[in-house]
Amino acid sequence: MSLPGEVLAARVKYPLTPQERELLLQIVPERLPRHIAIIMDGNGRWARQAGFRDRIRGHEAGIDSVRTAVRACGELHLRALTLYAFSVENWQRPKKEVDALMRLLIRFLNEEIPELNENNVRLVASGRTQDLSDECRRALDNTMAVTAGNTGLVLNLALSYGGRTEIIEAVRQIATEALAGTLDPVSLTEEAFSARLYHPELGDPDLLVRTSGEFRVSNFLLWQIAYTEIYVTPTLWPDFRRAHLYEAILDYEKRERRFGKVLEKPS
Ligand code: FPP
Repeated sequence: MSLPGEVLAARVKYPLTPQERELLLQIVPERLPRHIAIIMDGNGRWARQAGFRDRIRGHEAGIDSVRTAVRACGELHLRALTLYAFSVENWQRPKKEVDALMRLLIRFLNEEIPELNENNVRLVASGRTQDLSDECRRALDNTMAVTAGNTGLVLNLALSYGGRTEIIEAVRQIATEALAGTLDPVSLTEEAFSARLYHPELGDPDLLVRTSGEFRVSNFLLWQIAYTEIYVTPTLWPDFRRAHLYEAILDYEKRERRFGKVLEKPS
């Protein structure tokens, strides 16, 4: 008997463990989410539990999980993966941690280029990227430019990102257009509002995953998650592997998405 995920298993490029294979085979390709967003939480706790005094060791270990998630979403032919890498609030962390996170980001952006290109992944960013250092901005702009022609997964890094900030920036733009007489406020639609957010072309996430067991949205994609399915796993981000992603997808596929409507069943 054929299993739903056989077509997906045939696309896989990175070797699967037996457990990952078993999970993948249960995934129904037609029900896959198109866009997954992840709140990568628990790096500090992971570092403490692993006996490190420095929280940054958790962020470093989290890079492997980022790579794993990008590979896995690419193999599944998803449209987009949005990762909450640095929030507007994260600037308030101790300078030592912010500096270390920025160094990690620069290293990731520079070193990941060959793999992103090999896997046809296009990098974009959402957030107040003008707040990043010049060095960081340069690395980001370069990686976005050299992956711009890739046509597979879009990796959207949320950097200096805040959901309220994103909404306020859109409101400011709309108010400016209204004052200039190029937009009629009365006829403003949800679509027209969405079009002024950072990356409307990616579509709203179908699935939001949060690691480390916290049931919070933390100012992430506030407008876009209106009808997103939320999945919380106790796994800390540095421990997040392909099996965890497949489990989240399988859970998502079981849900009935109604978007506030009643799904009519034949009587
Ligand atoms: C939350 O864990 C995680 C972050 C604030 C940063 C996430 C960054 C990475 C995974 C590495 C860099 C990413 C890229 C894409 C280069 P926390 O520190 O709040 O953990 P805690 O709640 O256990 O303290």
